Amino acid sequence: MKLGSFDSVHIGSPCLLEALYRKESTYPQRLEIKPWKAYRDFRNEAYGLLILEGKEWQRVRSAFQKKLMKPTEVEKLDKKINEVLVDFMLRMDSLCDQNGQIPDLSCELNKWSFESICLLLYEKRFGLLQQTVGEDALKFIKAIKTMMSTFGMMMVTPVELHKSLNTKIWKDHTQAWDNIFETAKCHIDRRLMKHPDEATEDFLCNIYADSQLSKKEIYAAITEIQIGAVETTANSLLWVIFHISRNPPVQKKLLEEIQRVLAPDQMPSAEALKRMPYIKACLKESMRITPSVPFTTRTLDKETVLGEYLLPKGTVLTINSHAVGLNEEYFDDWSQFRPERWLEEKGNINPFAHIPFGIGKRMCIGRRLAELKLQLALCWLLRKYKIIATDSDPVETIHSGTLIPNREIPVAFLRR
Ligand code: HEM
Repeated sequence: MKLGSFDSVHIGSPCLLEALYRKESTYPQRLEIKPWKAYRDFRNEAYGLLILEGKEWQRVRSAFQKKLMKPTEVEKLDKKINEVLVDFMLRMDSLCDQNGQIPDLSCELNKWSFESICLLLYEKRFGLLQQTVGEDALKFIKAIKTMMSTFGMMMVTPVELHKSLNTKIWKDHTQAWDNIFETAKCHIDRRLMKHPDEATEDFLCNIYADSQLSKKEIYAAITEIQIGAVETTANSLLWVIFHISRNPPVQKKLLEEIQRVLAPDQMPSAEALKRMPYIKACLKESMRITPSVPFTTRTLDKETVLGEYLLPKGTVLTINSHAVGLNEEYFDDWSQFRPERWLEEKGNINPFAHIPFGIGKRMCIGRRLAELKLQLALCWLLRKYKIIATDSDPVETIHSGTLIPNREIPVAFLRR
């Protein structure tokens, strides 16, 4: 595929993805996000997991790997996730109009996701689910939005040029990162100073105490973890809500599973989720049809043969999970939302045909956390509301960094 002067080779076949995985180098690389690197170099800040490469990437990744990827560690976070979900459910009630519709549902889910990851990372509630939102939180969110909306242009035109001409886009981008780092540093410092002796109980203190990472590295890593976590998770919840609204039998079955495992007033927990295979199948199915992150990339650091193709060093590969998920060759009746396929035909589905979190050593480090958040959120939502479709017109997907719907999703939440 050619995008201006940028060439990349799309891979949408599980057997080629498996070949890539088997030939993966020690330090796999994604396409460089030059504008982010330019800011860090400009302000002498560190790089985080999204942009680090080589040995440095591995060092930082190892520091976070256990806390974020080990199931028993992630399971411990269910109480904090529930704490935010309790507030989110109250907010949902206040946001629903008389027909059960919520204006700008996507924005509300982003607030939930933001509040939830911030509690985890900084042990701080930002109050995004309250009626009036604090200045601090608004400034932080606005800065992240500006940063995200200004870097795309500098990916396709040289960032050095923007910097040397001090263009508006460079100034806005820099100012946005300044604000992001200022807020993140303030909360990280507060957290590390307040509870230095509680290292074993706290996500951040624990990582700082156990790793050799400097504060500067922690600032960058935490900031990028937050950026990687918010929209991806919110958007995944939006899509699964949409699919469930259009498939009432699935919704019924899902609610039955939740009610079978949980007593009416029992909080959902990571432990209880182990007895809910259907909820996991629903999320997988939603991510197959509408993966929040529709592709990721790799830059080959050596000449590589994949199947019948010889790819030179430096080739940028686009791992197109969206295309794989919608291919009849790998999924019968691909357009049907049928979670059962993940339970009944498990053995027939190639594991490399389902890659919404990427593949190999560089796959999403927040995968388990995201899954836990989404599964718990679904338990809360489904027990409280019947989710109905308010129209049956098509909802198309748009690639906008994340995969988003082309209009407000037509759903309503009716109290059970
Ligand atoms: C990387 C998807 C949630 C943090 C990635 C990648 C994908 C992805 C596709 C690229 C992987 C690759 O190149 O192979 C998603 C989706 C999410 C989600 C769909 C939600 C449903 C999260 C969460 C966090 C997070 C909750 C933080 C806790 C990161 C980081 C990376 C990453 C730091 C870079 C990892 C590295 O290069 O070592 N994610 N993500 N993500 N994600 Fe996620």
